[in-house]
Amino acid sequence: MNIMNVDYDGIIPNNVGLNQDIRVRKALERWHPGYLDWWQDMGPEGFQQSLVYLRTAVSVDPKGWAKFDYVRMPEYKWGILLAPQVEDRKVAFGSHRGEKAWQEVPGEHRAMLRRLIVIQGDTEPASVEQQRHLGKTAPSLYDLRNLFQVNVEEGRHLWAMVYLLQKYFGADGRDEAEGLLQRRSGDPDTPRMLGAFNEKTPDWLSFFMFTYFTDRDGKMQLEALAQSGFDPLSRTCRFMLTEEAHHMFVGETGVTRIIERTCQAMKEAGIDDPHDVAAVRRLGVIDLPTMQKKANLHFSLSLDLFGNEISTNAANAFHAGLKGRYREDRLKDDHQLESGTYPVLRLIDGRIQNEESPALSALNMRLRDDYVVDCNAGVGRWNKVIEGFGIPFEIKLPHVAFHRHIGEFSSVKADTDGVILSDGEWEKRQGDFLPSDSDRDFIESLMHPQYEPGRFAGWIAPPKVGIDNKPGDFEYVKIM
Ligand SMILES: [Fe+2]
Ligand SMILES: [Fe+2]
Repeated sequence: MNIMNVDYDGIIPNNVGLNQDIRVRKALERWHPGYLDWWQDMGPEGFQQSLVYLRTAVSVDPKGWAKFDYVRMPEYKWGILLAPQVEDRKVAFGSHRGEKAWQEVPGEHRAMLRRLIVIQGDTEPASVEQQRHLGKTAPSLYDLRNLFQVNVEEGRHLWAMVYLLQKYFGADGRDEAEGLLQRRSGDPDTPRMLGAFNEKTPDWLSFFMFTYFTDRDGKMQLEALAQSGFDPLSRTCRFMLTEEAHHMFVGETGVTRIIERTCQAMKEAGIDDPHDVAAVRRLGVIDLPTMQKKANLHFSLSLDLFGNEISTNAANAFHAGLKGRYREDRLKDDHQLESGTYPVLRLIDGRIQNEESPALSALNMRLRDDYVVDCNAGVGRWNKVIEGFGIPFEIKLPHVAFHRHIGEFSSVKADTDGVILSDGEWEKRQGDFLPSDSDRDFIESLMHPQYEPGRFAGWIAPPKVGIDNKPGDFEYVKIM
């Protein structure tokens, strides 16, 4: 079959020859009803019958892989799509560097590989669960459609990981695939595996911050897994990355549009002081200091997803050739890291300082550093918008020691500049750094749906261009 094109004949669209692979096809067909039950229970609430203008992958060709059409979400073509195989691909790093990339699971690394796949897989349905109530307060049909696009693609990402589990891991893979449908974001008894994926996404500012910061963690993890010597994992992650780009676009432009609207309203009302929160809020827009607090929250929660700065798990996964560095293929070194060092920010004698650490143990730190650079690029673009309005305010990412629950800094309280605070000071000042109850109440007071085509809630500007070049008043979702 042509790997570029997706076979839509069976229940499960795919470009992996599922029709000939009877064992795996049967396993996935058995898993499918449970997935649909999960989607009905935990997917977007109140919109399962609506017609949504969604893109569906019809090919894995990077140029033009999607087609757009109205779809009811439960009928979305969730499929299994792998990027084309690279001929003669080699393991590019670790102790197996230079060997042929694996088409089957390397027996000695089986447990580690399964764990990596399950952890990645668990984040995908988690975010759908976190976002399931947002449709009720969408600021426009355009945004509603974007939310649902992100949701169905996260669903597809779950399929991508489940395919690997079912195809390559036999009975324990099947159990893990079941487990992915059993856990629930925020459930005290059966939570999702990672902290940030058990937090609430209560409002649309949170949603945009989440897709900006947390989906970007997803991007970094996928980039690292796309380097994997286990070729099917690499190929599936490469295609997921093309979808992930849209999620971060939704986040970045969502925040940009809120900033734009706020600045515009301030200018019109003649308010120059961005810290006059009460005056700005009276305009029915979100003040910039509150946006900063939301950024602080979502950035710090996302940093936790990178795990401990010094990690033997990360070292082992690299050494085994399973999980590489961000853009491993563009780095110029020995790709084995047996000897080099990497500077790691640590808490030493109560002070935050850099320490040269074995490079192999510092891989989480390194990926997190790459992530912070990536985050800062978009923050710079947000600040350009504010600057363009002549408003003296700059959004800054907080220090990496701020508000951490995992790693070096989880044992201390630090402010957004990385100054360590006593518990008492933290109690007094945390409302300066993180959204307070009254901030949340204010944002919630703005969250009313705007479902009229072409119209937008008053706290967010319209986008510059429509999805699929549709005109401004296009009916992206036919609500039923
Ligand atoms: Fe995803
Ligand atoms: Fe995503």
